[in-house]
Amino acid sequence: MKNRMDFLKMKDNGEKITMVTAYDYPSAKMSEQANIDMILVGDSLGMVVLGYDSTIKVTMDDMIHHAKAVKRGATNTFIVVDMPFMSYHVSLADSLYNAKRLFQETSANALKIEGASEEVLTLTSRLTAAGIPVVAHIGLTPQSVNVLGGYRIQGKDKETAEQLIREAKAIQNSGAIALVLECVPMELAQIITNELDIPTIGIGAGNHCDGQVLVYHDVVNYGVDRLPKFVKAYTDINNSIVNGLQVYVNEVKEGTFPDESHSFSMSPNVLSEIKL
Ligand code: KIV
Ligand code: NA
Repeated sequence: MKNRMDFLKMKDNGEKITMVTAYDYPSAKMSEQANIDMILVGDSLGMVVLGYDSTIKVTMDDMIHHAKAVKRGATNTFIVVDMPFMSYHVSLADSLYNAKRLFQETSANALKIEGASEEVLTLTSRLTAAGIPVVAHIGLTPQSVNVLGGYRIQGKDKETAEQLIREAKAIQNSGAIALVLECVPMELAQIITNELDIPTIGIGAGNHCDGQVLVYHDVVNYGVDRLPKFVKAYTDINNSIVNGLQVYVNEVKEGTFPDESHSFSMSPNVLSEIKL
């Protein structure tokens, strides 16, 4: 399994880091088979596999439940788990307790937290000191969608761009092992990537980041209605799944499934001895 030092080396050598979300055993297993460097158990699972309209309803128990399944599916891949909405904003003690639970119960390799507020920076250094690696996440931070006023690109003007650069440096100083940059202009992502020693992982942040992350279901077009501009679908399993299910439905209705080759039979001797 690659670790924090490998990711630093990859940045230094200009070797891109690949990351994808996974929320369950099969998606984790297939991601590992595809040689993904890091898996994110993202709280986007709330929208992607639980059908919520944001990540805000996702709970600690949801994250633990899904992360355990991912761990079972990808035992040799570095796994980052999102701390969910409001699990790290009530008090430092509660945040540390929730982080401990998430890290210990899921056997994650790192936790991810959104933002760069004073409390998040303090939590990052406290967790790092305690032995829990932290991945940071700035730019579009979906847990704050109601404060940001929608899912929109961040850091387009001078003030907000400079703010994001300051945040990125503060995050590195607080001990984070990597930084996710979501929905920022590619030029800004390049500046931040050059300024930092820790790897940047982009999503909707252009090609200059040290790595890229996408949502599993977006990459394979699985159960997704609409793909955002920054997503590229590399295959389309929606169609093959719906087609497969339709043929199954038709064959059952017609009585052609199951045929003999998909059925069990008993010996005629036994059958003739059965008394009614
Ligand atoms: O939850 C998630 O999928 C994420 C990525 C978009 C970075 O946080
Ligand atoms: Na997330």
